Amino acid sequence: MNKRADDSPEGVSRRHFLKGAGAAAAVVTVAKIPSVTEAGQEVSDDPVIVGPGSIPIRLKINGEIREVEAPPSTTLLDLLREHHAMTGTKRVCDRGSCGACTVLLDGRTVDSCSMLAIDAMGREITTVEGIGTPENLTDLQKAFVEKDALQCGFCTPGMVVSCTALLNQNPTPDRDQIRQGIAGNICRCGTYQNIIEAVEHASRKGGK
Ligand code: FES
Ligand code: FES
Repeated sequence: MNKRADDSPEGVSRRHFLKGAGAAAAVVTVAKIPSVTEAGQEVSDDPVIVGPGSIPIRLKINGEIREVEAPPSTTLLDLLREHHAMTGTKRVCDRGSCGACTVLLDGRTVDSCSMLAIDAMGREITTVEGIGTPENLTDLQKAFVEKDALQCGFCTPGMVVSCTALLNQNPTPDRDQIRQGIAGNICRCGTYQNIIEAVEHASRKGGK
């Protein structure tokens, strides 16, 4: 079963912090911030007080270590889109209810709009840019095309990320399991049936 960021026991913030940050722009955060070496190894540090100014935020995204300076109140979604120009991850509700911003954190789905980027330090982040390429689509992405599993396409990156996580965890999901796998993703165009067929198609091909 997939897990959303608000369920995580780690970190200091999530939605309560984000709400507070919205009310008061200048805040400091007490956080456990692991560092990540060039080799991608984690080194746990003691909790530190950071902010409200920018701090270095070093993340492992799609296998690459990337670092930018940003306030510790920056969400993972903002960091991806505004600081790394990784706009495949979409912003729709910006409040953890639609799944358009879904990314994988250590292989599990999270709503990147609802977690702080600093809480993702030391973890493996996978965005839709790290799942196939236009020249080399995954079987699941090909199945989305073949089964016409999109209309406007705005929910599609989040759907692809969630369905990829589902097939990673369960290569042969039944229809109920597929529905459960995309339960956190809203498609306003209503392409659910085609998405389910796409996942089944990719599953039959043994792909992801
Ligand atoms: S934009 Fe994050 S859940 Fe909707
Ligand atoms: S295809 Fe338009 S929101 Fe899903």
